[in-house]
Amino acid sequence: MKIVSSASDPAAIQTPLLVVLVSDKGGTPPALELLSDSPALRQIAAPLLASGDVTGKFAELVWLLSPSGVAAQRVLLIGAGKHEKLCITEIRKLAGASARAAKAKNIKSFAMLLPTVVDAAAAAQAAAEGIVAGDFDVDTYQSERKNQQLTEATLLVAATADEAAVSKAIADGIILGESQNLTRSLALEPSNLLTPTLLAERARAMCAETGLACEVYGPEKIRELKMGAFLSVAQGSDEEPRLVVMRYEPAGAPASPVLGLVGKGITFDSGGISIKPSEGMEKMKYDMSGAATMIGAMRAIAMLKPNVRVIAVLCCTENMPSGRAQKPGDVQFAMNGKSIEVINTDAEGRLVLADGLCYARQLGATHLIDAATLTGAVVVALGYYNVGVFSNNDDLAEDFSASAIRTGEKMWRMPLDQEYFEQIRSEIADIKNTGGRWGGAVTAAMFLKEFVNEVPWIHLDIAGTAWMEEGKAWMPKGPSGVAVRTLAAFACSLPGTSH
Ligand code: BES
Ligand code: MN
Ligand code: ZN
Repeated sequence: MKIVSSASDPAAIQTPLLVVLVSDKGGTPPALELLSDSPALRQIAAPLLASGDVTGKFAELVWLLSPSGVAAQRVLLIGAGKHEKLCITEIRKLAGASARAAKAKNIKSFAMLLPTVVDAAAAAQAAAEGIVAGDFDVDTYQSERKNQQLTEATLLVAATADEAAVSKAIADGIILGESQNLTRSLALEPSNLLTPTLLAERARAMCAETGLACEVYGPEKIRELKMGAFLSVAQGSDEEPRLVVMRYEPAGAPASPVLGLVGKGITFDSGGISIKPSEGMEKMKYDMSGAATMIGAMRAIAMLKPNVRVIAVLCCTENMPSGRAQKPGDVQFAMNGKSIEVINTDAEGRLVLADGLCYARQLGATHLIDAATLTGAVVVALGYYNVGVFSNNDDLAEDFSASAIRTGEKMWRMPLDQEYFEQIRSEIADIKNTGGRWGGAVTAAMFLKEFVNEVPWIHLDIAGTAWMEEGKAWMPKGPSGVAVRTLAAFACSLPGTSH
């Protein structure tokens, strides 16, 4: 899709659809504000705003066909919600909702008048990102799938806006939107069509497109690296595991920091011998969302080009029951030599990540961030709207949280006190892979902490947030691409970056 900006008079724009925001300035009945000073637009909107048919409620859609005095074929008044709350997060969502509203009517191109409540470049970036993300569909394998992609969007900005800054912002917004969509398209794939081998191929293809270095390893190398925890999960499956290393190492970047990203890539989690109930098991195709997140984040980083080193490690395998599968009670040895008593084979994510984290450290990471659909317990704790954040380092957690706030992704820090370690102490080995019923998301993170040593580290439990159970006006039900934006923003904020 092409996205351009224009400072023309909105009333004069030739387009199948012109989107204009209407915000609620408070009071009863609410004082409605059309976010445009175009006399022609104000004139056609006035009777609607006075009628009470328009409420300004967030993402409300009111269509006007062939309005007089305006070159556009249609005008869409979109509710922007409370005026004082209108910021880039809302602009991103409204742009996405506009894109989806256009698609629903088979309109391929539209123009959107950007509000001036924030700087034009910031608004343009958010809108471009929202439009690209809003153009994502989940009907990949429907035989009647139409070509429903948008072709062009025009963002209307004030005549005083800095054109170069707006163009750059649009380009960045497209990169971020497309990178999230890549993550979402991977999470959406069924496990028969996205095996560990194919997931690694998709990572490799992304690297080839963006100029990243990429290595893909099979079972022999994984065994050579003594990744006994990772292999113990893989041994039950007929599909071979894959270990993927992606590297972004710009020539002028300082030797340190090296950001190490680690992703859980379970292409299907049946639970293994501790098999899951069949109801809802089909959803476990998205248990590779952590790996998909890192693929999307590396794409964004490769294209935004911060002056900092970033490496990513993906641990890709299925978790299956079979005659060769590991069994409850088995003891496994991770790459760092720690012995693990496997109480529950369904707590497999922490096993593969244990070795992934060790390997990222061995590759030179000075800061670690992992993403994983790790526990049902984080869904109990935080529901569908906040990523669970765990960290062994307050400074890093604060910096990361600042990036999350800036990009509008909701994340919530959880505790990680040493007391919780008691729950994962094993009698036969150093550690066991489950900590009982209570605080399950915390004991899972506590397990990971055993493999990062003193390296500043953040663990993102995205089990509740990587898949939206409900569609929104700006995105369909399904994979969300959560954390890609924050990871990219965080990489761009590291010391050494000029971004
Ligand atoms: N992949 C699951 C966690 C999960 C649950 C992801 C719901 C997305 C939605 C993970 O491997 C798992 O099975 N965790 C177990 C751990 C338990 C056995 C200690 C869980 O949360 O039940
Ligand atoms: Mn599991
Ligand atoms: Zn899992």
